[in-house]
Amino acid sequence: MTRTVAVLVGSLRANSINQTVAEALAKVAEGKLTFDFVEIGDLPLYNDDLWQDGRGPEPVERMRAQVAAADGVLLVTPEYNRTAPGVLVNALDWGSRPWGKSVWISKPAGCCGAAGGAIGTAAAQLALKAQMVTLGMVVMGHPEFYLKFEAGKFAKDGSVEDESLRGFLKTYADALAAHIERLC
Ligand SMILES: Cc1cc2nc3c(=O)[nH]c(=O)nc-3n(C[C@H](O)[C@H](O)[C@H](O)COP(=O)(O)O)c2cc1C
Repeated sequence: MTRTVAVLVGSLRANSINQTVAEALAKVAEGKLTFDFVEIGDLPLYNDDLWQDGRGPEPVERMRAQVAAADGVLLVTPEYNRTAPGVLVNALDWGSRPWGKSVWISKPAGCCGAAGGAIGTAAAQLALKAQMVTLGMVVMGHPEFYLKFEAGKFAKDGSVEDESLRGFLKTYADALAAHIERLC
C-alpha cells in the first residue's frame, strides 16, 4: 500500500538543493510513498491575532489540511547559522495551533537535509528533531540523513545516476516507509 507523506522543504529559493533532494527521495520512494509537497512560502509570520473563530489565514488552513490528511511528515531542511531556517519553524508553529488542534500530534515523521558544508545539516536537524518530538511527532531516529550536496550527482528531474548515493536515498526512503507503515 502506498502511504502519503506531507513534505515540507525549508528553502524557498528556486534552485534549492533541498528541493532537489526531496524530489530525488520522492523518485526512489515510488510505489511505497507518495510525496505531497506542502507550500510554506506563503504562510504569514506566526501571529496569534490572525486566528478568526479558530481559523487561520487561507495558506495556513491549506497547509494544516494537507498535513492532517497525510499518513506521515517529512521535513527536508537546510541549515541556517547552525540551526533550522525560520520558514520551517514558522510552519511548525502554525500547525501547532489552535491549542488542542495541532496537526503534528502522533504523525510518523522524518527529518533530513543537505548543505554545502561538511556536517550536512546535522546541527539544524538536531534542533528540528527536538522540536518535532515536543510537538508530538513520532520521529524516526535511524537511519540519519546528513548530506554534503554535490550538484553533479543530481539530475533536474530528481534522478540519481551515482549508485552509492541512490542507495543512500533509497535506504532512507524505505526506512521512512516502514516507520510510517508500523504506526498507521
Ligand atoms: C542565512 C544562511 C545561513 C547559512 N548557514 C549555514 C550553516 O550554518 N551550515 C551550513 O552547512 N550551511 C549554511 N548555509 C549555506 C547553505 O547550506 C546553502 O546556502 C544551501 O544551499 C541552502 O540550502 P538550499 O539550497 O536548499 O536553499 C547558510 C546559508 C544561508 C543563506
